[in-house]
Amino acid sequence: METTVKRVLIVGSGTIGTQVAALFALRGFDTVMHDVSKERLEHAAGAIAGMYNELAAGGHIDAEAAAAGLERLHQEEDLGRAAVGVDLVSESVPEDIALKRAVFAQLNEVCDPDTVFTTNTSDLVPSMLADATGRPELFAAFHFHSPMRGGDVVDIMGHPGTSPAVLVLLQELAGELGQAPIVLRREHPGYVFNNLLNALTRAALELAVDDVASPETVDMAWKRVMHMPVGPFGILDMVGLDTALRIARLGAEQLQDNGLQRIVDYLAQYVEEGRLGVQSGRGFYEYA
Ligand SMILES: NC(=O)c1ccc[n+]([C@@H]2O[C@H](COP(=O)([O-])OP(=O)(O)OC[C@H]3O[C@@H](n4cnc5c(N)ncnc54)[C@H](O)[C@@H]3O)[C@@H](O)[C@H]2O)c1
Repeated sequence: METTVKRVLIVGSGTIGTQVAALFALRGFDTVMHDVSKERLEHAAGAIAGMYNELAAGGHIDAEAAAAGLERLHQEEDLGRAAVGVDLVSESVPEDIALKRAVFAQLNEVCDPDTVFTTNTSDLVPSMLADATGRPELFAAFHFHSPMRGGDVVDIMGHPGTSPAVLVLLQELAGELGQAPIVLRREHPGYVFNNLLNALTRAALELAVDDVASPETVDMAWKRVMHMPVGPFGILDMVGLDTALRIARLGAEQLQDNGLQRIVDYLAQYVEEGRLGVQSGRGFYEYA
């Protein structure tokens, strides 16, 4: 495979797509952003300028780098025009399998046949989407962890039909983006980190649900033994207790898991009281 990535298309300019676009542009790639929502696209442009200003104010980048990054960023409402000359697509539309499949089918119509397609999905696996791309060998997951908020790892996960050359290309690209690649040897929902985090937060929640120890005690044990600034309940507050509840509810339903159902009931009490975590000023902890 000869592809060198110079121009990228970011499809979906929401929470993560905006950050991914900001990273690519800052690292020297011509970056086209596309979204079905004009408002989202306009908001993303302002948000990226704000992110660069913060980085410049903190001394992480200089003013010229910020200006050059903004020069390399383009917003395009028309998907056909957005796709012209693009070497790689990074998809960040909502976590809905039918929507993602429809978007990849559309992209297959408008992109060059050798354009590499990647998905930023958090919970799906690439084989659920591969046939819809029309180019399964050029398709893999390239999953970011909020790169502009300090995450500096990216998951690389192919499906059984992904070309090994694409996986090599993505590892090189990760390096160019300053992200450490976490390469999975085979498909696995939740990648590496999310599986570790889910196990930790589930164990912590079970200790609280069974009234073995309070959230504060559980966090204190983790923080002091592991020399960590935050424990599992503090992490849940950052994730958002509404999001944690939605994920637990999905698992409880899909797996008929009674343990998870007890966690759902426990988290639901917090959410009903409006205690959503950091975003609402109060979750397991209070935030000023
Ligand atoms: N939020 C995170 O921290 C994070 C981190 C890693 C991965 N992800 C994954 O990235 C994806 C997006 O998550 P998000 O939190 O940014 O969602 P979001 O809702 O903030 O943004 C999604 C964007 O996609 C746009 N969109 C919807 N349909 C579209 C279409 N047909 N074509 C183009 N754009 C379309 C929406 O208008 C919206 O701006 C999900 O798969 C999620 O699992 C999210």
